[in-house]
Amino acid sequence: MIPILVARGVQKRFVHPAGTVKVLKGVELAVQRGEFVAIVGESGAGKSTLLQILAGLEPLDAGEVLIEGENIAAMNDDAAARLRNRKIGFVYQFHHLVPELSALENAMLPLLVQGLREDEARKRAQALLAELGLGARLFHRPAELSGGEAQRVAIARALVARPALLLADEPTGNLDERTAEHVFALFREAARRAGAAVVMATHSLKLAQAADRAMTLAGGVLIAGIQMQLSENL
Ligand SMILES: Nc1ncnc2c1ncn2[C@@H]1O[C@H](COP(=O)(O)OP(=O)(O)OP(=O)(O)O)[C@@H](O)[C@H]1O
Ligand SMILES: [Mg+2]
Repeated sequence: MIPILVARGVQKRFVHPAGTVKVLKGVELAVQRGEFVAIVGESGAGKSTLLQILAGLEPLDAGEVLIEGENIAAMNDDAAARLRNRKIGFVYQFHHLVPELSALENAMLPLLVQGLREDEARKRAQALLAELGLGARLFHRPAELSGGEAQRVAIARALVARPALLLADEPTGNLDERTAEHVFALFREAARRAGAAVVMATHSLKLAQAADRAMTLAGGVLIAGIQMQLSENL
């Protein structure tokens, strides 16, 4: 079976008046369906940049990103957005929920974009939110939720359309350790049930160790394992 995600020779530099920064220098990655991969690396190593490139949200300078064989990096914005909508869920570090919408409406959005009927979208979003422990928060807006609750809504939104690939940029980054572990467990379970492969950037070496496979982004390339000093920060 072809991997859900293959990145080959991914290079990216940012040109800035203060000097050009070469962030990615030939990233190689292959992720199989159902696999849970954690990416660690120092602040500024390029984890967010890499995830954005894998989702086709940011252009690359060289290389390719194949989503079930389709090179999202070579597509125009519309085609990339369509592919993303069909196959990828993205969890931002700071949830990026729509502030005017309720938890339920936020979680329904990807299904409505896909053209699903509203009552069907509502039913599915509601069931997933309930599974994530938010059954009593459906009609709260993001500002009326705790950080962990908002993060779980963002995870529900990323999972609701049952994407084959879930990309998560520090989904537990702004949570305390206990909530982070709880959210991580829910996230993992929901991804497993939906049959999604997960690539998660995290500062938590503890969570990274709990993944099927951990990789370290350092010097612009991905290397196998956790290749950095253990620190306590999440
Ligand atoms: N738009 C941009 N223009 C110029 N430089 C950028 C831009 N975006 C990111 N960078 C640089 O690229 C490097 C990698 O940034 P990135 O956000 O990918 O790191 P990160 O590994 O996610 O860090 P953190 O753990 O702090 O979230 C940083 O040094 C940053 O200064
Ligand atoms: Mg980052």
